Order: sequence, then structure tokens, then C-alpha cells
Amino acid sequence: VSLTIIRPDDWHCHLRFGAVLADTVRATAGIFNRAIIMPNLYPPIYTIAEAIKYRSAIQEVCASSEFNPLMTLYFNTGITRSLLQEAVQYPWFKAVKLYPAGVTTNSEHGVKNLKDIFYVCELLQEFKVRLLVHGESNENSVDVFEREAHFIEHYLQPLTQNFPDLKIVLEHITTRQAVSFVKNSSDNIAATITPHHLLYNRNDLLGHGLRPHLYCAPVLKTELDRAALVKAATSGDAKFFLGTDSAPHAISKKESSCGCAGIYNSPVAIEAYAQVFELAGELHNLERFASINGAKFYDMPINTDTITLVQEEWVVPEVMRLGDSEVRPMLAGEKIRWQVVKGRRYV
Ligand code: NCD
Ligand code: ZN
Repeated sequence: VSLTIIRPDDWHCHLRFGAVLADTVRATAGIFNRAIIMPNLYPPIYTIAEAIKYRSAIQEVCASSEFNPLMTLYFNTGITRSLLQEAVQYPWFKAVKLYPAGVTTNSEHGVKNLKDIFYVCELLQEFKVRLLVHGESNENSVDVFEREAHFIEHYLQPLTQNFPDLKIVLEHITTRQAVSFVKNSSDNIAATITPHHLLYNRNDLLGHGLRPHLYCAPVLKTELDRAALVKAATSGDAKFFLGTDSAPHAISKKESSCGCAGIYNSPVAIEAYAQVFELAGELHNLERFASINGAKFYDMPINTDTITLVQEEWVVPEVMRLGDSEVRPMLAGEKIRWQVVKGRRYV
């Protein structure tokens, strides 16, 4: 069995910086034509000058001149009219990413009081810049498993009502509430879905010993939630598209008394998605999810070349070297049913 699809894009990806960059870029650019690059570096990407520098660093280590990194800025009060006037002149500038402070990796500089975001949102709407949202409430009183649903009800719902023309991507959705909110919203609201939220639930994370390598933000939810995500992703609905949220951390940072959130999945992402779609009996919708829906939402052309996967089992390495650190990828040591045989740009 083989499957050829239009070359996919990754609409949510963490490439990091420094020694690991060449390896993260290779994994992503080998398969994906474009990727939305997250700005949560230390320190975050706040300005266009910083985004230009980061983009050049990515292109410098990238063997493929075709790979197109699409850059984002970290939501902050420095997002002004003049900054956006400058930013929108760059075709690779795509969005501003909102992190509520404290809910995930490198979100210390995020927004502390979510009631304060309205002024910047008004500017984004005016300049037609997309808002990408890490949709989790950060109040201490909100249970970690309820953060996403709470955010949707208390912040996202009002936001979409106040700014009906603002295009928003609710990133890495994890709950049935998120699926139904996105489905019932206007066409300006869409969502990315990760491979790990399609594969795993919180029993996998906590039910048989603590699995630090399955710890990510937003945290894995129930089986009912996972099933709702699979249904949404595999339905072909234009509002849902591929975003790996691939987010590597060294093994020592994951296997720790205070482990980092983030799963490194780029090396197995498209194969894992294929497995999920196949199991759901919806393999014919993989191309929409991976290669069409996102491009349309971002008003970008559909890619013109293809990749081909075949059904041939292989075993994912237990450990991968990224620069000078070791990382355990998603599905480490496990068999995976699909393999890319054509269209991988380099190995
Ligand atoms: C991401 C990271 O490590 O940068 N971690 C994660 O668990 N997803 C940050 C993020 O996207 O929340
Ligand atoms: Zn992310």
C-alpha cells in the first residue's frame, strides 16, 4: 500500500536555537515545505529585527533552499502600530503568538493578566495579522486539566465576539470543548492538532507509571477528548490542520524533578498522522489536513510537489542526538507502520 500526498506544511513548530538548530531544521524541512516557527526562545522574538536574524539562522543551516520558515512574534505590549506596519511588509511574517504567562515552556514573559490583551488584538485585526493562541487560562485556581476549556469560555469566546474579523488559530487543541467551539465559530477561527494528542490520552501519561516524555502543554486529556480530536482531524473539515508542536528538550530536562513540557515528534510526525488516519478509516483525508486546510487558512498557495509514504514497518530510535544534547523522540523504540519513501529532501 502506498500513499502520495501534496507536500505537507507544519503550522506549529519549535526549532529552538543554537547547537540543536541544524538538526531540528533538517527534521522539519526534510518533509514539510513551510513551517510556522514559534517565537518562545530565550529571550523571546519580540521584534522584526529579531525575527529576521532568527530566520537567517534557520536558512543558514538548511540544506534545502525550498524550505520556507514563516515567522511569528511573541505577544507583548511592544506590538505597536509602527511595528506592525513594518512587519506586514515581509511575506514570511505570519502571526503573533499569545502565551498566557506560566502555562508552558518559556512563557514567563507571556501575558500575566489575560484581560490586558484587547488593545493589541484590535491592532492585529486592523492589520489583518493572525493571532495564534496557546489557549490555557493561567489563574492558579483553574485545574490544569480544565485550563483549555476555561480559556475558551472566559477569554476566547469574548475575544471572537469583540473582534469578529480577527483570524485566530487555537493551537494544539486537546479537548472536545475546543473541537466544538472551533466547529461552531466563524471561518476566521481554526485549530491545529498535534500527533501526540491524536495518539495518547492522560492514562498513557499517568496511568501506568509517570511517562515524562509524554508530558506536554496543554497536557493530554481523556480518551473521550482524544476521540473527538481524531474525529475532527480526520473529517477533512477545513478548520482543522496539521501543527506538530514538535518541541524538543534534552532527556535530562524531561527526566527531572520538575520536567519540561514538550514532545519531540518531527522525525515521526507525518508517519504518525498517517497511522491515525488509517486507523480511523480516513486516510483519504490526510492530504486535506496536512497539505491543504492550513495553506487556505493562511491564504498561501498549495504546495506543488508531493511525498509518498508506504506501509512498511520501522523502529523509531530510542534516542536522537540534536547538536550537543540527546532527545527521546515520540514513539521512541516503537514500531511505526508508515515510512516516507519519496519526497524526503535529505536524510
Ligand atoms: C512547548 C515548548 O517546549 O516550547 N512545549 C509544549 O509542551 N508544547 C511550548 C508550547 O507550545 O506550549
Ligand atoms: Zn508549541
